[in-house]
Amino acid sequence: MNRYLRLGVNIDHVATLRNARGGRFPDPVRAARLAAEAGADGITAHLREDRRHIGDEDIERLVAESALPLNLEMAATEEMLAIALRHKPHAVCLVPEKRTEVTTEGGLDADGGRETLARYVQELGAAGVRVSLFIDPEVRQIDAARDLGAPVVELHTGAYCDADPGAGRGSELTRLTQAAAHAEAVGIECHAGHGISYGTVGPIAAIKTIVELNIGHFLIGEAVFVGLKEAIAHMRELMNEARPGATRP
Ligand code: PXP
Repeated sequence: MNRYLRLGVNIDHVATLRNARGGRFPDPVRAARLAAEAGADGITAHLREDRRHIGDEDIERLVAESALPLNLEMAATEEMLAIALRHKPHAVCLVPEKRTEVTTEGGLDADGGRETLARYVQELGAAGVRVSLFIDPEVRQIDAARDLGAPVVELHTGAYCDADPGAGRGSELTRLTQAAAHAEAVGIECHAGHGISYGTVGPIAAIKTIVELNIGHFLIGEAVFVGLKEAIAHMRELMNEARPGATRP
């Protein structure tokens, strides 16, 4: 029997649109409610150091008002750790963050950053938060996550999604498949995300050892044309088609 594949909807870019004008519209919390109605299993939001999209009040409201579990993406900084420990979201995904990047460019160097990351994984875990590390699909990084005691990794799918269809994409898919198998072999839950669209979701969703996808920018863009519920529901359908027979627990 296939395992159920959860869909986490990243609502950062609802806040990007709001912040383009200032004010309160469109409201990311309303997007979270619609995502729940459309069949999403969780909400993901990245609180960046520069607050370019999601803000502190959004996190507060998402924790208080959204029915879905919140996966808070954040950099490993003292400021973010304090915020996460205050709100205790369901999950925290530790991501690398550069001020000048448009979006998260690469995975976290869990292997090179063991000394810094250990405290974050430990303190968040002790507070009952499920910690994941956003990493490139590499055995070395998965082993570091295991050594750090992180229960979850999220594999960066950007290289796969950005590759030209054909040989390039094929080799990136192989990297993801092998990394996801390795995560399972060492007892780490495997998620994936970044850059996923209707065109790229199928082969990733078909990797049976991945149990959650986090998808944002494409869905919010598609929502401009067809509405958020329809965009999410269609993504859900494509995920279900790639993993037949899996039912929501
Ligand atoms: N997962 C992580 C860790 C991310 O940083 C992002 C982007 O914020 C996503 C998933 C979603 O990526 P996208 O918006 O390209 O779907």
